[in-house]
Formats: sequence, structure tokens, C-alpha cells
Amino acid sequence: MDRFVIRGGNPLTGVIHVSGAKNSALPCMAAAILTDDAVTLENIPQVRDIETERRLLASMGAEVDLREDRTILSCRTLSDPVAKYEIVKTMRASALVLGPLIARTGMARVAMPGGCAIGGRPIDLHIKGLEKMGAEIAQEHGYLEARVERLRGAHIVFDKITVTGTEDLLMAAVLAEGETLMENCAREPEVADLAALLTAMGARIEGAGTGSIRVEGVSSLHGARYRISPDRIEAGTFLVAGAITGGDLTVANCCAAHLGAVMAKLEEAGARVDVLAPDAVRVRADGPLRAADISTEEYPGFPTDMQAQYMALATQAEGVSLVRENIFENRFMHVQELVRMGANIKVDGSTATVRGPARLSAAAVMCSDLRASASLVLAALVAEGETVVDRVYHMDRGYERIEEKLSQAGAQIQRLGNLFAPRERAHSAA
Ligand code: EPZ
Repeated sequence: MDRFVIRGGNPLTGVIHVSGAKNSALPCMAAAILTDDAVTLENIPQVRDIETERRLLASMGAEVDLREDRTILSCRTLSDPVAKYEIVKTMRASALVLGPLIARTGMARVAMPGGCAIGGRPIDLHIKGLEKMGAEIAQEHGYLEARVERLRGAHIVFDKITVTGTEDLLMAAVLAEGETLMENCAREPEVADLAALLTAMGARIEGAGTGSIRVEGVSSLHGARYRISPDRIEAGTFLVAGAITGGDLTVANCCAAHLGAVMAKLEEAGARVDVLAPDAVRVRADGPLRAADISTEEYPGFPTDMQAQYMALATQAEGVSLVRENIFENRFMHVQELVRMGANIKVDGSTATVRGPARLSAAAVMCSDLRASASLVLAALVAEGETVVDRVYHMDRGYERIEEKLSQAGAQIQRLGNLFAPRERAHSAA
């Protein structure tokens, strides 16, 4: 199992480049199921979750050619439209094949995704919406068995805002008979990315990116070529890295328009943030960091996927910062590891109270989930001494070559394979 060894104390400077959005790439790859033409996607990040999705689609009979500059997917023959548990258990987002499989083939057999470190992660709202569209869905032996002649348009109001629920049902609706109106939808940019691809494939969609999406079903979709948006969470992570290390860092190839809440919060915490261009944001230290509260909300609010990273910053801010996690029930796994490095954090239910500034010292710490990993790396960048961050495969799920990117911005970080086990290939799933 790979580990990072990080020596803290270096301000990050220069330019750091953002890869494509993992959480756009995953639904867009699943959208290829909806047509028997080839779909070409650009700017796909080379991360483990993408490799897992490639394996999942290939296991169903799709051809997926992952290249450096583009990914070509062909789902002409889906010889085995089953999302098997041994793959689904490693990545919950596998549930995103449910809607497209039912829409394309009239059937689907998808393993129920288990929970994960941050919560139970149910998909009841996906199921409820598909049943409203006429699918018959049984749950047995840990699998969802879905059947329908042809999905029909429906009026769906989500009980809770769900990102992949919105995406799953959007992919079901584009081939349904008649019109679908979905309300209380997720407004994340990744939903708009998926809708842009589907539209390029011939779908008729209005309102993606807003709370209400209207779809006019069509009988078939054709192939398309589409470039995935930049990863706003990777970009936000690098902005925090520039601020926490007291550096002067420009985050390039990003989409500043997707970073409003994160940039505003960093300014409130005392960093200097300048939008140099639509795809470039500069962050600089501007005196000591100041405590500022956050409360995670659906987009365009402060993202839950940035909560752990912000908490690392809050440990270095003067004063008391309240961190409220409103989206997931167990997303404070990073807290105890930060405390072991010297942070002063108390958790009470869904609120963590962070008192700073705390002097952090290097320790042996362990990743538990994707964004908690990022939090530990950020803390290690300012901790005194050499921190060993173990189980970085969690981080490899959603950050492409993170140690190379941070090193070229001045961080002292290196990746070590486990001395006693074969070096894990960067893309092998868990
Ligand atoms: C997506 O997960 C992202 N993953 C997550 O990013 C992100 O944290 C999350 O949205 C929130 O922004 C992908 O896009 C692949 P939800 P998703 O459905 O869709 C409850 C990362 O770090 N809910 O929006 O699974 C759910 O339990 C990952 O890249 C139901 O109750 O999240 C949660 O409390 C982590 N029933 C809330 O809604 C459902 O059927 C929001 O979940 C679906 C969700």
C-alpha cells in the first residue's frame, strides 16, 4: 500500500494545473450506455475511480479505450448488463449505470452499493424515481433487478437533493416515452456537464443546473465528443494548499465560476484570492489566517467535498471556527488524525469546533476516505517534521498525480510503495 512522506514548512508557489472532474466523468462514461455509437470524452482524469468505472463497463461488454488525451467508449454490445458486486462495492457511483441500463435495454441487474466511510449512502430516491417512470424493481440477494417495456415520462420531485440521483434519472428520462419534469434537482456543475453531453447526443433537456429539469424523451441517441469540465474540488483543494502554506499559488485549468463559495470563504479566512482569468485563480497569504465558520450545503453553497480540506486550514486560523456538516452523517473521519498531529478540534454531532492556531507536528496518519486524505496532506504541508500518510489509495481515487503536482509547486512530498508488498499499480481498484 502506497504512502506519502511529507516534510512541512514550504510555502507553495507558482502554477498548479487542475485535471478533469471525476464526478463529471463518472456519469458521462455511464451515459455511453444510452447509445450503440461511440462516445468520445476529453479531459478525463487518470484516477482510480475512472479505472473502476472502465472495468465496470467492460464487465458488461462495453469497449472502453482509456487514453491520455481522450477516452472512447462503445456500448454497442452489452453482453452482460450486470453491475457486479465485486466492482460496485469499491465504488458507490457504480449505481449511475442503473438508469442508463434500464433506458437502453429495458432491464438492469445492479448490486446494491454498500455504504462507505462517510455514510450509509442509500439510493432509495433513484429507485423511487425509476418506479415512477414505470420500472419494476425488486431487491434480492443484494442486487436490484429492474425491468420495464419502455420507461415513460413522469413528474418527479426529489425528497432530498441528490447529485447522482438527479444524474441517474436524467439518463433514464432522455429515452423515456413523453415528457419528464424533475424538481428539487441537484444544481451541481457536474449535472450540467452530463446534460451537455446528453444534448450533444441528441437528447432534449431544459433547465440542467437549476432545481427544475424538463426532458422530452427521444427514441434513440447518437454518439458525440465532449470535453469534461475541470474538477472544482481538486481546484478548491489546491486553493486551500496555497493559503494554508502561506504561499502564492495560481490554480490553472480550473473553472472560477464553480468556485464562488470556496473563494469567498478563503477571503473571509484572511487569504487574498484573485480571479486572473475564467480558468485561473491566484491565492496568496495576506497576513495571519482568521477563524471563519462553514456550513456545508448543496451547490452553490459550500461543498461537503471541501469540508475536510477547510478544516485543516481552520486549525491554523486565529480564533474558533465552527464546521457544520449537513450533507453526510459521518464525514469527520479526518478529525482524529488531525488531532493526533496537534489540532484542537471537538466534535459534537454534526458540528466540529476548531480552535487555532495550533502548532501541528508530524505524525504517522492514515487515510479513511477520499477527502479526508486531502485534509491530512494539507495538514502535513504545514506540520513540523516528516509526516507519513498511509493508505493513499483513498486519495488516488480522485486526485491525479497529486504528489507530482504539489512537488512542482514547492512541496516536499514523495510517494513510497510498501516495502513488503508489490507496488500497487496507480489504477488498480481496491
Ligand atoms: C455525489 O455523491 C458525489 N459523488 C459526492 O462526492 C458528493 O459528496 C455528493 O454528491 C454530495 O455533493 C459523485 O458525484 C460520484 P447525494 P452522491 O446523493 O450523489 C442522501 C467525492 O468526494 N441520499 O447528493 O452519492 C445521501 O445519503 C464524493 O467525490 C438519500 O437519502 O450524494 C446524502 O445524505 C463523496 N437517498 C444526501 O442525500 C438517495 O437515494 C446527498 O447525497 C440518494 C442520496
